[in-house]
Amino acid sequence: MNVTHLECAACGLEYEARRLLNLCTKCGKPLLVRYDLAQAARTLTKESLGTRRADLWRYREVLPVDSDENIVSLGEGWTPLLHAERLGQQLGIRELYIKDESQNPTQSFKARGMTAAVSMAKELGVKKLAVPSAGNAAGALAAYAARAGIEAFIFMPKDTPRANVIECEQTGAHVTLMDGLITDCGAEVARRKDAEGWFDVSTLKEPYRVEGKKTLGYELAEQLKWELPDVIIYPTGGGTGLIGMWKAFAEMEQMGWIGPKRPRMVTVQASGCAPIVRALEEGKRFADEFPNAATAASGLRVPRAIGDFLILDAIRASGGTAVAVSDDELIKATGVIGAAEGVFCAPEGAACLPALERLLAEGSVTTDDRVVLFNTGSGVKYLECFVT
Ligand SMILES: Cc1ncc(COP(=O)(O)O)c(C=O)c1O
Ligand SMILES: [Zn+2]
Repeated sequence: MNVTHLECAACGLEYEARRLLNLCTKCGKPLLVRYDLAQAARTLTKESLGTRRADLWRYREVLPVDSDENIVSLGEGWTPLLHAERLGQQLGIRELYIKDESQNPTQSFKARGMTAAVSMAKELGVKKLAVPSAGNAAGALAAYAARAGIEAFIFMPKDTPRANVIECEQTGAHVTLMDGLITDCGAEVARRKDAEGWFDVSTLKEPYRVEGKKTLGYELAEQLKWELPDVIIYPTGGGTGLIGMWKAFAEMEQMGWIGPKRPRMVTVQASGCAPIVRALEEGKRFADEFPNAATAASGLRVPRAIGDFLILDAIRASGGTAVAVSDDELIKATGVIGAAEGVFCAPEGAACLPALERLLAEGSVTTDDRVVLFNTGSGVKYLECFVT
């Protein structure tokens, strides 16, 4: 296909495509996939999209799999961009949208990353995959691995929402629950992977999940008729979705689909775990580990992210910001969005609403802005959070 090579996002070192790689062997930072975009743009045209499949593989030329038969799909992506008129009216915003990622297979945007990573694993002959997860990535890996006939080894904190644990068990994964956080689960995968023969598909520690996630950016542009919004509000843990969208915008500009204007990228974190918010406030390019991380929005309980500099670079280059919201605010927001729009959000997705309210009050977002909130998953996975 159109992949030319892999490239380290920090030091620029280039690697041959189609090798099984984790991080840059020189500096230990994430690798990104690079494409011959001129060649991709010959067949991937805006017009051609009209007749393509209604999932994220519609952007086939800018996705990494070589052979169609290796695509492992459950119908992921091409989720609705809902015009949130009622919620918008409450806030005085005319153009407010919700990108509803709860409608993916396994009910979260993690399906996008895992369809790409598992397809590439299949193509490169991997037999065993391992992942540390806050919950939704685990559910997605388990499902796609089952569909590919690959074994999945999953490590989650023991207080991960029950639904995530049960879905992994029912889709045939080997599940280990650990005392500790996602970073401890990651350390366990790293410690055992060589002896066990696992390929590690941790967030941004392999190059392909972000390729699946970047289709969020392609879809947003296509659904808004190639005019990006003014503001994107996105709940950030490891940051693949935000980093992926930012990469998609650059690729689309190179293919001549959009101009240089970018949305202001806003990261939302929980006040109990806000390493990116803190690093932005302190003017740092790399975020310190957030001590005693705690939040009910389990996907945001990521005290240290290997892609921290990519998240921070994108926020700064876009003129965006990062906002921390309390657990009380994000749980309450779930009911507000649900009642106004009929979308039962994951608490991570609901966190976008109090963040937007804060930015409106400060004046850094105005009621004339076209704003997109990302609901990254379904509230159905988090029933414990809503039982009083
Ligand atoms: C529902 C939900 N939203 C947001 C996130 C954070 O995503 P990312 O790690 O891509 O920043 C997660 C991660 O687990 C999640 O499950
Ligand atoms: Zn490097």
